[in-house]
Amino acid sequence: MSDTFDIGLGNNFPEIREKADSDFISFWEQQAKNLHWFSPWERVLNWNPPFARWFEGGTINASYNALDVHQEQKSQKTAIFWEGENGDSKVLTYAELFESVKKLANVLVSLGVKKGDRVTIYLPMIPELPISMLACARIGATHTVIFSGFSATSIKDRVVDSHSKVIITADGGYRRGKVVPLKEIIDESISELDFIEHVLVVKRTNSEIQMNSVDSYYDELMEKSSAQHLAVSLESTHPLFILYTSGTTGKPKGVLHGTGGYLTHLYSTYKWAFDIKDSDVYFCTADIGWVTGHSYVVYAPLLHGATQVMYEGAPDFPDASRIWNILQKYHVSIFYTTPTALRMFMKFGDDIPNSFDLSKIRLLGSVGEPINPEVWRWYYRTIGKEKCPIIDTWWQTETGGMLISALPGIETIPLKPGSGTKPIPGIQMSVVDENGNDVKRGTKGYLIIRNQWPGMLQTLWGDDEKYKTVYWSKYENCYYPGDYALEDEDGYFWLLGRADDVLKVAGHRIGTAELESCIVSHTDVAESAVCGIADDVKGEVIISFVVLKQNTTKDTKSLESEIIQKIREDIGAIATPKEIHFVSKLPKTRSGKIMRRLLKAIASNEKIGDISTLEDGTAISEIQTAFDELQKSIKENSN
Ligand code: WTA
Repeated sequence: MSDTFDIGLGNNFPEIREKADSDFISFWEQQAKNLHWFSPWERVLNWNPPFARWFEGGTINASYNALDVHQEQKSQKTAIFWEGENGDSKVLTYAELFESVKKLANVLVSLGVKKGDRVTIYLPMIPELPISMLACARIGATHTVIFSGFSATSIKDRVVDSHSKVIITADGGYRRGKVVPLKEIIDESISELDFIEHVLVVKRTNSEIQMNSVDSYYDELMEKSSAQHLAVSLESTHPLFILYTSGTTGKPKGVLHGTGGYLTHLYSTYKWAFDIKDSDVYFCTADIGWVTGHSYVVYAPLLHGATQVMYEGAPDFPDASRIWNILQKYHVSIFYTTPTALRMFMKFGDDIPNSFDLSKIRLLGSVGEPINPEVWRWYYRTIGKEKCPIIDTWWQTETGGMLISALPGIETIPLKPGSGTKPIPGIQMSVVDENGNDVKRGTKGYLIIRNQWPGMLQTLWGDDEKYKTVYWSKYENCYYPGDYALEDEDGYFWLLGRADDVLKVAGHRIGTAELESCIVSHTDVAESAVCGIADDVKGEVIISFVVLKQNTTKDTKSLESEIIQKIREDIGAIATPKEIHFVSKLPKTRSGKIMRRLLKAIASNEKIGDISTLEDGTAISEIQTAFDELQKSIKENSN
């Protein structure tokens, strides 16, 4: 299928796969023993389809495993080299991180936060963000982190859904040199909520903010707080966090993760994929507001007592050399980023990375979207100097951790640019057709997972039914991730993008349904459909089609800016469409379904021939007519 790179790096422990293949349950049981447990489990997996309870009866604490366990040997080791966007920096040792987390745990308890309560965290990429998550974990509160790019309305929906009575935020955050007024956004989001008891405010930008009756400054409470705190012993299945993510229908869903299984999955995959050593300096560019940040910035590195770099801002601010500067400054040895970031770096040219000392790098990772083979090769040659494996990791918010990845920590296999290689040990995966039959190797189909894994989501917060239908109803007893894939002759998996109405814009997950209902809520809009089209930096960008109400008198220019404004207010700037086309009607099949692929084809300038077979049950002539009408309508409206 393509060239392979056999760089021969890595360990070779074939017995790990053999054990996992023969009995995945006792295999994961063995892995769980790498963690600290207050008391052992009674049952490794209680599988009550489709609900999994891992290490049932065992008691554990995530914060204890991230911090307490390192205090004897590594208290003076750097946990986090923090780099602020504005040039500020901080170094936190494991002892310092431990102390802050214990103090904040006591603060939360003093505010009345109890085991099982939810705490919303809306913070920029500053050390207080992992500290807040670990403090929640320490007392058994379930954290729900909201990416700092989401709007007040999005926050409100999430705070209401999780019923968080306590919120942790900051006066502001830096993004591209500007201050994002986080506290103001929180104030707006909770203005109509009567159940918010406390808002803790971290000072980051020293912006002028209004302090209300529920507000307290984080620093002031921390100063008075004791640093003595014993981590609470929690059931392995205790909910560690809720993370909202977009799906095919409605508003974002709260993906719920437990503790013992999730940590076991992260501990193992981090060791296998990144072959983590005590001497490594690891840097993952993901924002903690997304799952990669939860799993591979906060929990996995800390479980291993690793040293990592955490960066606050935009990767190209103040200029295109920022990231390479950080890699050089901190002697980064493992770098984990997204294809979108790589495509951007690649455009800036090789001279920039070539002018930095990147010689410490030994492993390079990619996550969040398919990596184009040419970008893979650039990463391999220009950044890795042809000596570092590219670890392309496929997984999802729902899977908790990596499920497909090259694993130099346990095996050496040739790499193929654009393929994540094989499923991790213990995972049974297939590529199937619409009816659930395995397709022939080399054929595109739907990816499914046939067994359970410890990092899997427990359910969707407050909605077991939706959990069942979204992930477990398409194929009996199999988990359906919603991705297209292909397994090649060598058993390598190639991930080919979403098979559903979820977009990946710059690696961020955006649901078309959510966006459409936001656009339709504009008073002048009758109907809307959005689709994603290929973009050479962001992977995908959003194109939206809008049918206006008949009596609308406004001009399309002002309507366009009103719609964009609405999207920013209701969802956030990340969901802004690249183009809005005003059309007289949307192309529909006879049964009334919007012909999305036709929209996509038009938006990407494809020819009708390429799509005529794609719309089930509709005659080619009808598609042709719809196509022509739509094109005409776009032309008329853009004149
Ligand atoms: C996509 C991000 C190809 C995929 C960790 C998945 C990928 C969705 C890869 C989950 C990859 C993630 N290659 N596609 N290496 N990694 N995806 O929940 O479509 O934000 O279903 O989790 O990202 O996105 P999420």
